[in-house]
Amino acid sequence: MKTTTNQTHGPVPSQPGPGTREAVLPELRPSWWETGVRARAAAGLVGVFTELPGLVVRALRVAWRADRLRTVTVAAATLASGVLAAFGLLATQRVLIELFAGGPTPDRVRAALPALVWLAAATAVRGGLGLVVGYALNGLTPRVHLVVERELFEHTTAVELKAFDDDSFAEGMERATRGTEAAIELVQNTMNLLAGIVSVLAVTAAVVTIHPLLLLALLVATVPTAYAALRAGHVKFQSYLASSTRRRRQWVLRQLMADRVSAAELRSYGLRGFLLGLYDRVMGAQTAVELKVARRVTTTTSVGAAVGGIALTGVYLLLGMLLLDGRIPLAAAATCVIAVQAAQRSLAQVTFQVDRVYTSGQFFNEYVRFLATADGYLPLPPPGSADRGARPAPEGLRELSVHEVTLRYPDRDRPAVDQVSLTIRTGETIALVGENGSGKSTLAAMIAGLREPTGGTIHWNGQPYAGWDSDGLRRNIAVALQEHHKWPFSAATNIAMGDVDSTTDLARIEAAATMAVAHDMISDLPHGYDTLLDRTFKDGQDLSGGQWQRITAARAFLRDAPLLIMDEPSSALDPRAEDALFRALRGRQGRKTTILITHRLANITHADRIFILDRGALVEAGTHAELMAAGGIYSQLFTLQAAGYRSAPPAHG
Ligand SMILES: Nc1ncnc2c1ncn2[C@@H]1O[C@H](COP(=O)(O)OP(=O)(O)OP(=O)(O)O)[C@@H](O)[C@H]1O
Ligand SMILES: [Mg+2]
Repeated sequence: MKTTTNQTHGPVPSQPGPGTREAVLPELRPSWWETGVRARAAAGLVGVFTELPGLVVRALRVAWRADRLRTVTVAAATLASGVLAAFGLLATQRVLIELFAGGPTPDRVRAALPALVWLAAATAVRGGLGLVVGYALNGLTPRVHLVVERELFEHTTAVELKAFDDDSFAEGMERATRGTEAAIELVQNTMNLLAGIVSVLAVTAAVVTIHPLLLLALLVATVPTAYAALRAGHVKFQSYLASSTRRRRQWVLRQLMADRVSAAELRSYGLRGFLLGLYDRVMGAQTAVELKVARRVTTTTSVGAAVGGIALTGVYLLLGMLLLDGRIPLAAAATCVIAVQAAQRSLAQVTFQVDRVYTSGQFFNEYVRFLATADGYLPLPPPGSADRGARPAPEGLRELSVHEVTLRYPDRDRPAVDQVSLTIRTGETIALVGENGSGKSTLAAMIAGLREPTGGTIHWNGQPYAGWDSDGLRRNIAVALQEHHKWPFSAATNIAMGDVDSTTDLARIEAAATMAVAHDMISDLPHGYDTLLDRTFKDGQDLSGGQWQRITAARAFLRDAPLLIMDEPSSALDPRAEDALFRALRGRQGRKTTILITHRLANITHADRIFILDRGALVEAGTHAELMAAGGIYSQLFTLQAAGYRSAPPAHG
């Protein structure tokens, strides 16, 4: 394809660019948001109509769950509106019969009056029902959104942590979030579809009442156009799919040419001509495809319209013959003409909604599928079952024993924790030490009840974790995670979240903050403990890495839990804060149990026992003195670190 030159904004050198087009801009992965279109293009018309009833039922179920009254209102008003449409047609016929009768005009008008009144009443009530449907639908959609989205979050917050290690789970979640909007669309489109179908049926019923033969006329006049509309829709979906790769490339190119992050390199390397050239090629191909589609769609709809027009002529001829034969009265013929027009309108609505129900239904299916996946990740027994609550919650900690515990992450050959056994007694402070990736955080997460071992068991007071109520167990454990979260709430709330179940007074929060060396720092913030810790909000502030770490430690201290796990609590702290934090931790020793993970070995020399992990396995254990005497990994690491502090700075020059 030719690279065109842009004349309006300065010359653009025509650059072929390195490599082939495909090498320069490789194909992107199919986007999840194309799901509906993909499915629609692949399904074909038969597939669409096979799946449609199921989707309609699904939509009605969601609507029913969200708001019964409004769902019933919409359904009843739609049905009533259809009945009135049929009634209106019959009244029209009556009016026409009276008007076409013999006699003086005033008499004829007078005779037609009752039917006219009926017609007017039917039209007015239909209008009113339309308002009722609109009103009820407007009230229904936010409730559908609420029900569907809440159900999603009920699942995402209940699934076990390991679900988040599963790529397909994350992907499914992304699609499912789209599904909540799709639920609204599905409900709305379904209601519109049903309204269209009801109108078509109503018109059909009225026509059959007038004369059965007219049904044939009606079908002949409407079906070709409707079929053409559906076909044209199919062509559009297929072409969209065929050009989706280009569309995604286009999207990337737009980003590259208009984004801030690429702006500097675009200029420094003179990439303008190269990128515009790529854009022209992609766009050229896209335009050609779109023109081709436009031609096909126009042809299909034209053929449909032509066939429909010919059929309509046939219908009028048939009407004329029936009239001449005296088999139907003039009024019936005139009503039939009106009915055909009404049917065409309703059928156009139906064909339009069929595609919409189908595509939004695909997105909603993704949502339903995700909930099923998430169900598989729910901890056992599932919430609400009779078994729940039967398991007790532990009262304090006497002994925690880890027995040959192994954890292998999905897609990893080597276990992150390999057959580790250790026992911790109440009041002990123990430390986990090891190089990066040796499995310390993973072991801590299992002890914290956040991850389930793939092998071995952990016992709390002699009873396996599975035997305890998991929420009750976790209430006995406070954890400061290595990858702590910065919650977008005030400083006070950020700390109070460490113990959301009990009412937290400020004195308790301040005490926890003081232990974590966070009190002075928080007091210095513009609004003290009420300072919002997120810059995306008005009046929000952000903290430094070390300040955040103090908040995290305070959160863990707030719940004076029988077991406290601190994973790298001081990695970002300054020396003074670090010293204060570990002194506060020492206050627990002999009273409550603490598990410390740190690379700064000077902080754990006081620990009752130190466990050394190497590639997931427990390789050494003992007190500081014992381990130093043994001369193993610990003593090497400790000596190395200590040397760094002792040695004088190297002389320069
Ligand atoms: N969610 C995960 N999915 C897959 N692999 C993981 C995951 N988390 C950790 N790993 C892997 O498990 C191993 C142990 O990780 P872990 O975080 O337990 O190490 P660590 O001893 O805490 O290291 P560090 O000192 O860097 O904190 C590493 O090889 C890591 O790559
Ligand atoms: Mg870690």
